[in-house]
Amino acid sequence: MAKDWKTAQNHEKQFWENIYVKNNSDDIYRKTDDEGWKQFANEVLFRHSVNINTLNNKTILDLGSGPAGVAKGLHLMIKNNLIKNSNVIAADPLMEFYKKEIGILKEDEKLKLLSNKGEKLDIMDNSVDIIISTNVLDHCENPDDLINECFRILKPGGIFLPSVHLAYNYLSLVSPLIKYFDKNHPHHFTSFTIEKKLKNKFLNVKVINKFSIKHDQKEFTFINIFRGKNFFRSLKRFLSNFILYTCYFQCKKN
Ligand SMILES: C[S@@+](CC[C@H](N)C(=O)[O-])C[C@H]1O[C@@H](n2cnc3c(N)ncnc32)[C@H](O)[C@@H]1O
Repeated sequence: MAKDWKTAQNHEKQFWENIYVKNNSDDIYRKTDDEGWKQFANEVLFRHSVNINTLNNKTILDLGSGPAGVAKGLHLMIKNNLIKNSNVIAADPLMEFYKKEIGILKEDEKLKLLSNKGEKLDIMDNSVDIIISTNVLDHCENPDDLINECFRILKPGGIFLPSVHLAYNYLSLVSPLIKYFDKNHPHHFTSFTIEKKLKNKFLNVKVINKFSIKHDQKEFTFINIFRGKNFFRSLKRFLSNFILYTCYFQCKKN
């Protein structure tokens, strides 16, 4: 666990800066291109069991989009008419940095960029059909406030699709120790703790998919992990396979 949210966000900024600004990332994470971003969006939709045809005529929010996230792929699919008559909002507290220093997401009539925390979004009540939020709940400052805010902006019948790294339940007693090794995350959840938070607000919460880290992030092969420049970080990544997995949720606002 990071000391606090601001410290975690500084690490997050450095992480993206190393890949996209300084070209100084270790071997696992690399820049990708439009094709890569479309593949990423398709993969996330597939893992949440969302058929692309259901995305026509929708307002879709990518919450905690990062510099591209699912928003980039969805925006490209809308421009290529693979998704019709929809628009995307990408919101992230680091959006000004992503816009100025990285420049992958560019605002137009189909893509709106918001420099917001998920805990307080400049979005009207009951105005969004689908919220996708990959790898954000354990990065945010106050997960309960973020979940409440998602509920507020969703239309009745709208869906919140978060995915999050969780500690295996057999580790629940020792999961508080993860904070001593992991500086990027203000929170570490197990399925019990995160489901309790989601169910506090959403009546209908389903686990759609679960993947081990090495299946979720295909680049996390043994060789790639240990090709990294920093042995301690490589070891942490290797061990994360035994500690964490990724869970894909679907939460419906009735
Ligand atoms: C690991 S990145 C994931 C980025 C992107 N969703 C992806 O999957 O590539 C976590 C992102 O969450 C954002 N974040 C951190 N705190 C947040 C908050 N309170 N509300 C929304 N996003 C937040 C970070 O700025 C960062 O861009």
